[in-house]
Amino acid sequence: MAGSGTAQLRTGDALLRVEHLVVNFHAGPRQRVHAVSDVSFDVLEGETLGLVGESGCGKSTTGRAVMQLPRPTSGSVRFAGQELTALKRGALRETRPQMQMIFQDPISSLNPRRRVVDIVAEPLAIWGRGGGAERDAKVREVFDAVGLDVDAAGDRRPYQFSGGQCQRISIARSLMLDPRLLICDEPVSALDVSVQAQILNLLADTKKRYGLTMIFIAHDLAVVKNVSDRVAVMYLGKLCEVAGADDLYEHPTHPYTNALLASIPEPDPQVRPSTNGAGLAGEIPSPVSPPSGCRFRTRCPRAQDRCAAEEPQMRQMRPDHFVACHFPVESPVSFGATRSTASNQ
Ligand SMILES: Nc1ncnc2c1ncn2[C@@H]1O[C@H](COP(=O)(O)OP(=O)(O)O)[C@@H](O)[C@H]1O
Ligand code: SF4
Ligand SMILES: [Mg+2]
Repeated sequence: MAGSGTAQLRTGDALLRVEHLVVNFHAGPRQRVHAVSDVSFDVLEGETLGLVGESGCGKSTTGRAVMQLPRPTSGSVRFAGQELTALKRGALRETRPQMQMIFQDPISSLNPRRRVVDIVAEPLAIWGRGGGAERDAKVREVFDAVGLDVDAAGDRRPYQFSGGQCQRISIARSLMLDPRLLICDEPVSALDVSVQAQILNLLADTKKRYGLTMIFIAHDLAVVKNVSDRVAVMYLGKLCEVAGADDLYEHPTHPYTNALLASIPEPDPQVRPSTNGAGLAGEIPSPVSPPSGCRFRTRCPRAQDRCAAEEPQMRQMRPDHFVACHFPVESPVSFGATRSTASNQ
């Protein structure tokens, strides 16, 4: 898209359903940053949605808007049957423990002066949950879940750990309040490549162990593929393409998705990446004055006049595959169901 629309929303109960989400920021006199512009997606219970796009496209803002941090400019965020945007402060606070966020830079997200055992235990203290013995047992359990020994590690401070270990501590902390939804915002982007796979595996194990639902944010499609059931591709505040993870990689349909895939290095230097003529040239435009029509048109090799005049709407291309583009790379194929209700694949 970069376009809008809700064709990608599924029927039935989703744990999270976001519709027409808009987040604008003020940027000086009479200037607005259009960070998120009419974005809709849903996440079924137990599912992982990958949210992918270049830096600055609005991924973190989307994640924070789901948590109502801050409240979005407009749109609907329905979580576990409750419309979060309509909740008063007190009621919203009550829902907060059910949604936790993990950030890119694990070391700076942990208080450097505190022992890690206290950092991990802190959410229970803040929320006044559990007595001493219960808290200790929960701390021990989550340390164990993230592969750290509380007796050996608990008294140390964050700076005494590596980035990967600090991310383990952040994950442990996020589990203390038994969340239902975990929003992981580029959780491995700041880590050494050798450590990334360990943290991705840990997140997958944690999801299974605690029955979590996840939004996994990354700028790297290769990282997102392995952890996601479904992937939403974002460009300049809009969604371009939403599909089951395997289908997205096998049949990338939006020119931007093709460009992102083409930019993933091939492991075999003899093999030239297949680009469908879709290299990603130029810079992402400013979200202060995004292009008319399709926001991707200034960089799109397939752009035509219509793309400047008319914003593309999401439409179904294949079962559980939706794209917002006037001239997609693949044509729609015929299929039986009019709308997929597939859950975890
Ligand atoms: N608090 C803010 N005030 C003004 N602009 C912001 C603020 N937060 C984010 N932005 C802008 O919104 C856009 C989207 O940012 P962000 O959601 O952080 O992107 P991503 O996470 O995809 O890198 C960027 O242009 C960014 O500069
Ligand atoms: S072909 Fe047009 S609508 Fe499709 S991505 Fe390119 S500019 Fe946008
Ligand atoms: Mg971000």
